[in-house]
Amino acid sequence: MSSDTGKRNAAREALKFVEEGSILGVGTGSTVNHFIDMLASEGPSIRGAVSSSDASTDRMRKLGIEILDLNSTGDLDLYVDGADESNRLLQLIKGGGGALTREKIVAGASKRFICIADHSKLVRALGEFPLPVEVIPMARSFVARQLKGLGGVPHWREGVTTDNGNQIIDVAGLTISEPIKLEDRINAIPGVVTVGLFARRGADVLLLGDENGVERLDR
Ligand code: A5P
Repeated sequence: MSSDTGKRNAAREALKFVEEGSILGVGTGSTVNHFIDMLASEGPSIRGAVSSSDASTDRMRKLGIEILDLNSTGDLDLYVDGADESNRLLQLIKGGGGALTREKIVAGASKRFICIADHSKLVRALGEFPLPVEVIPMARSFVARQLKGLGGVPHWREGVTTDNGNQIIDVAGLTISEPIKLEDRINAIPGVVTVGLFARRGADVLLLGDENGVERLDR
């Protein structure tokens, strides 16, 4: 079961990776919200952040953290973000909050990805959490049929529009035995913007919090 104390403990641990005066990539979600709040109140002072969503941008701006454009920062030293699931290879499912595309961009542009989560997110095999796929709206039904062909049960996240103006299909029932292959396969479907499998670029460090503390896994 998900624990808010676990999320907080993981978020606090991630502060130790942040260097004074640096530019930080910041993800999205309830665990990252704790991280943002702690960064503003007890973290080192940073030059600014590249944000992975409008929601995180709003939260950081309100707390006085400057938001920078990835087009002018160059690559980042550090990215901090949550996950919906992680295996022991630190391959992830992300996108429960719908921000997967920008998250994948910022993760890809960062030298080190620290993933923060409560301990329940660690799984033996990815796929119990329905896999989010961001799609161009006109391709939604076509992509859904292709995903069915891969053995999944696609479900349109109706009423949700991403920060990029696209839609999301959540795919249940997939057996993800080869995450990199599946990531490549879904990315190759025309109309797919991003699949929420972060296997090619998974996390470098996973901080798993629970009521008692934090377990660290390294890739
Ligand atoms: C946002 O799109 C997601 O990738 C989040 O990182 C993920 O859903 C984890 O969110 P929580 O920290 O709220 O569990």
